[in-house]
Amino acid sequence: MNIIIRTFEGFEEILAEEVFHITEIKPEIGKRAVYIKGDLRTIYNLNLRSRLALDVLVELHKYKASNESELYKGAYNFDWGNEFSIHETFSISSIVHSPFFNHSKYVSLKIKDAIVDQFNKNNGTRPNVDRVAPDHKFIVRVTNDQVNLLWNTSGDPLFKRGYRTITGVAPLNEGLAAGILKFSGWSSETPLIDPMCGSGTFICEALMMAKNMPPSIKRDRFGFMNHKEYDHHLWIEIKENAKEKINEKIPNIRGSDIMSKMVFATKNNLDNILKNHPCKMETKDFFKLKKPAENNILILNPPYNIRIAKEKNHEFYNDIGTQLKHEWSGCDAWILTGDLEGLKYIGLRPRRKIKMFNGPIETRLINIPLYKGSKKAKKSQKN
Ligand SMILES: C[S@@+](CC[C@H](N)C(=O)[O-])C[C@H]1O[C@@H](n2cnc3c(N)ncnc32)[C@H](O)[C@@H]1O
Repeated sequence: MNIIIRTFEGFEEILAEEVFHITEIKPEIGKRAVYIKGDLRTIYNLNLRSRLALDVLVELHKYKASNESELYKGAYNFDWGNEFSIHETFSISSIVHSPFFNHSKYVSLKIKDAIVDQFNKNNGTRPNVDRVAPDHKFIVRVTNDQVNLLWNTSGDPLFKRGYRTITGVAPLNEGLAAGILKFSGWSSETPLIDPMCGSGTFICEALMMAKNMPPSIKRDRFGFMNHKEYDHHLWIEIKENAKEKINEKIPNIRGSDIMSKMVFATKNNLDNILKNHPCKMETKDFFKLKKPAENNILILNPPYNIRIAKEKNHEFYNDIGTQLKHEWSGCDAWILTGDLEGLKYIGLRPRRKIKMFNGPIETRLINIPLYKGSKKAKKSQKN
């Protein structure tokens, strides 16, 4: 099977490494996706173990179409009865980059018509569409005249891990948090701290990484489970196998937040992952926090403060820079924010800047190594 693993913009390389680690198959790298060939085992493993994938798709059929009628016929000629039955629901979404088709919704509609007409012809009745929680999600991708009909084996996106039962106002996407930890080069031997932890996405992802815990181990639904050829024994074998590889490490992971309710949320989410987890949590103002170790990796996702006056916001980021310089020397700081203006006021020279999106919000991840005696620039940094 041709398998497409989708991810966030800029995550292609780290996803390719992860996919190779999970499957031992070297992927081809695409735009916001990587491609491999594999079987059911590959699909189940990726769904269970990928921290960076948005979802895992399988190519069902491909054909050429440069008008409506060809688009319809190509989908009509594929045997949908092998994929699902009239008693199940389905949805179609489309991604269209083609001079032949202007409206992606219209493309979805045509494919839906082809599927429904085929079932009607063969069975005298048809399956229903459910846009909210369908049993089967299909995707049509049209690039010029090339049409690909894809099946979403994940169902819900894979960042829905199932552990985050309490969130804050600006929770980070779990996959994005896992990717940022990868970019930081953090390994479980190094102390990690998130002093503005919110609902604790970094802490939770770091705990699972350190313990080699599959990110979706708590999830009980995946799209592939609704397929006619779902192999329950294989799925249980893969899951048990992965559980056996969870290690006994006790990583040094800390989190704090100025709001006690956020600390409560993080503790709750950590408990969902692992009862008696080793992470140390406290309610504390970052500006009063002392560094707990010399060589911490410090992950900071400050508030975007859209509602706060600009000057106050600049002051806040300036204070973060001063605090980092005076209190955190010897550590490696990674800061993620959507406040691109505020970032300039940190006033410490970044070693790396990486553009990424948290949902629709354009953000920057910057890395500031806090060498002893590092200078705080008088002028703000250009973004
Ligand atoms: C953007 S949210 C972090 C979201 C988090 N990464 C998550 O996944 O849920 C920013 C957090 O910074 C916290 N915060 C703001 N000022 C702080 C301060 N001075 N000290 C510690 N935490 C602070 C807020 O309470 C909020 O929870």
